[in-house]
Order: sequence, then C-alpha cells, then structure tokens
Amino acid sequence: MPSLSRLDPIRDPSGVALKRTSNSRVFPALLLANIGQLLTLQPPSAKTGPRRGSDLKELSIVKNGAVLCVAGKIASVGTASEAFRDPWIRKNKRKITEIDCGGKVVLPGFVDSHTHPVFTGPRLVDFEKRIEGVNYEEIAAAGGGIRSSVEPVRKASCNELASHILSALQNMAAQGTTTVEAKSGYGLTVESELKSLKAIREAAACWPGTVIPTLLAAHAIPEEFRGRSQEYVEIVCKEMIPQVTRGKLAQFVDVFCDKVAFSLHETEQIFAAATNSGLAVRAHVGQLSETALEPLLQFQPASFDHVDHVSEDDIARLAKHDTVAAVVPGANYFLGLGEYPNARCLIDRGVAIALATDYNPGTSPTLSMPMAMSLACTQMKMSPAEAIAAGTINGAWALRLADRKGSIEPGKDADLNLFAVDDYREIPYWFGTNRCTMAIASGSIVCRD
Ligand code: NIG
Ligand code: FE
Repeated sequence: MPSLSRLDPIRDPSGVALKRTSNSRVFPALLLANIGQLLTLQPPSAKTGPRRGSDLKELSIVKNGAVLCVAGKIASVGTASEAFRDPWIRKNKRKITEIDCGGKVVLPGFVDSHTHPVFTGPRLVDFEKRIEGVNYEEIAAAGGGIRSSVEPVRKASCNELASHILSALQNMAAQGTTTVEAKSGYGLTVESELKSLKAIREAAACWPGTVIPTLLAAHAIPEEFRGRSQEYVEIVCKEMIPQVTRGKLAQFVDVFCDKVAFSLHETEQIFAAATNSGLAVRAHVGQLSETALEPLLQFQPASFDHVDHVSEDDIARLAKHDTVAAVVPGANYFLGLGEYPNARCLIDRGVAIALATDYNPGTSPTLSMPMAMSLACTQMKMSPAEAIAAGTINGAWALRLADRKGSIEPGKDADLNLFAVDDYREIPYWFGTNRCTMAIASGSIVCRD
C-alpha cells in the first residue's frame, strides 16, 4: 500500500488534503501546573483488575496539582509545590514547556472503548421513522438499520472512509477522547471489511491518540446471505479472520449476538476462530433480548457491551470475571427507549463497568464522552465520579490497555485533558456544551481551545 503521507494524502469530501492533525505539537517535556483538581485515578487499594463496587468512585484527586510529562509519558504527579521543589524540574526549567491550567480540572484522556466510525453519512430516514414510532427491529426488517449503511461503505474508497474516520477522531479529541476502539462492520464482504480496517489504520496514523481496531464482520447478516447465515459465518471464520490476522489489521473480533443478528452458536464459532488466530474477542450482547453469557465466558472476552438485558445468574458470573460490561447509554437515548441498562445493579453487585459512546450512524451518532457521562448520571444513576472512572480507567481495562492508559501515573502514556471547570462534577453536568479546552495524547497537544 502506498505510504499515506508521501503518495496518497487523505482527502475530506470537499477535496482538501488532510495532514497529521494540524495543531498537534509534541513537547519533549511538558509541565501542567496550577491544576485546581487533578483527577489521577490512581488505584485506591492494592487490588488489581478493573474497578468494581465502591472502588469505581475513587478518583484520587490532588488539589492544586501538577503533572510532568517527559517523552510522551507521565514522569511525575503531585502537588504544584512538590513539582517546583523537584530538583530535575528546577535544573531543566528551560527545556520544559509549562502550561498554566488556571486552577481548572485535569484528568486522564477519555478511553472510548466502543465506536463504529467507518461509515459515510447519517441515516436520516431511519431517524424520522423512529420518531414516527417504528422500532429498531421493524426498521431493520424493512431494509433500514445497519444494512442501509453497507452499500455506501462498499462503494467508498479507502481514502474516503479514512477521511470520515479522521474527522471523527479529531472531533472526539476536541471533547477529550484520546483512546478509541474503532470497529469495522458496514462492509460485510471480505474486501470491504479489510478496506474498512485499512481505513482505520490510515486515519489512526494521522492522529496522535491511540486507536484500537476491531473486526466486526459479524455485525449483520448481509442481504445476499439472508437465510444462509452459516455460510457467511464460514467466510468470517475461514477468510476474514485469517486475512485480518496476517495483515495485523485488528486486535479484537466483535460479534453482534442478539435476536436480529448472530446466534449464540454462531458467536461461539467466530470466537473460536478468533482465539485460534490469536485475536482477542468482545461482543455486543443483550441489547434487544437476553443473551446467555456463560458459554461465551470461556473465550475470556475483553468486554460485553450494551448489557441492557442480562440475567441475575450472569450478573453473578460477571462479578467474578475481568470481562468488563460496557454500557452505552447514547444508544438508548437516541433510540428513544425509556429503559437503560441497570448500571446501578451491575456496579453494586461487583461487575466491572465501562462507559462508551457507541458512536455509529444508526443508534448513537454522538462522539462525546461527556455526553455519555451525563446520560450515565441522569439515566442510569451513576455518580459523576463513577461515570468518569468508567470512561477512563475501566475503558482502558475493556481494551486491555490499563498498563498504559486510563489514569495519571508515572510510566503511563501522557494522555490528559484540561476541562474549563472548577469541579469535576461539572463535566457531566453541562450536557450539550463542550468544556474540554485541551487534550494531550502521548505528550502531544491534540487540540486546544
Ligand atoms: O451498537 N447493535 C449493533 N450495532 C450498533 C448499531 C449500529 C447501527 O445501527 O448502525 C449498536 O447499537
Ligand atoms: Fe455498537
């Protein structure tokens, strides 16, 4: 494939060539000082694994804090007075770029562990139909839903898709997201799924944040395989997964396991093929109807996402596993559902919860983690602290990146956000407006207000 920067610049639909995020700057040493509330998310106890129960609300806040980042990593974290006494900082003052955070809030960059950014445009007919009262299953049965995004993705060039993805990544960073899981899933042929993953890779190469690609070929049964889903599953297992593995195009394989999509048995087949190829797995479960989770747990999925419908027994099982339950309230909001996942019950019973946007054109066209946090608070009764931990450290666990992401600790990637608020609870409070004034990914300023 030609090198993107040399031969084949990504063009946005208006024809303008897109370069590496234009206002991103890498600093060898960066000191964020005068931080009113520094949410470090350092672990409250010696327990390892994703946050559960009452640990989820522990943000480990330093008042009047400072963070030193060197060569893209967090070098030290503490109070401002400690930072200014630090001999290394005193000696290297000239080499350090200092950012005065104005007494505002700094926290880890958000980790959005569930997005579908490889599509070309909105689905406005579905939007209107739903407002008129037609539901998700009826829209899908009439040829709308996921399938209606497939034709445009099949027709689009890799560059066109990459341009849409890059624009989404830039918008995400503007709202504080520095790590994104990105799924394919609107191609549904070998060629178009591979093209979608290549587009994710090309967009990711132009963005300073971290992108984790996922093969979601089992998103919907393609029209041409209607009534022959097993044949499509064979293609996913025997052609797509091996090719994706060979090309190192994805880290995870996802399946939409629900009554309108793939059966439990088909999901097990796909999970087995992924595991045999050395890819980790995750699944959309229990969005429309209850999915039995026990048979899937043997594959040690990184996450089960949606979990609107989950049995008592499976809640007890999840509480004993490191598989994270990722709730995506943007989908419930946008589908106009009165009900949301019972996050309160999941947390109180010890299940590890992450929070994600589920950015996609059908059920959740938002790329804002603060919006997801606001919905988590108002609709699922999560506290602001729980919502923030679910969108940072537990998002990192859901992507198996907790050794690098999700908290502000020495040695981790320098992924940080500055929010123009005095108190972290304002992040989910001011819904619909963006208070993120700076996002930093691996020590590089991705966007600045
Ligand atoms: O997570 N549930 C399956 N996938 C998406 C919907 C995608 C679409 O409608 O385009 C979801 O909600
Ligand atoms: Fe999804």
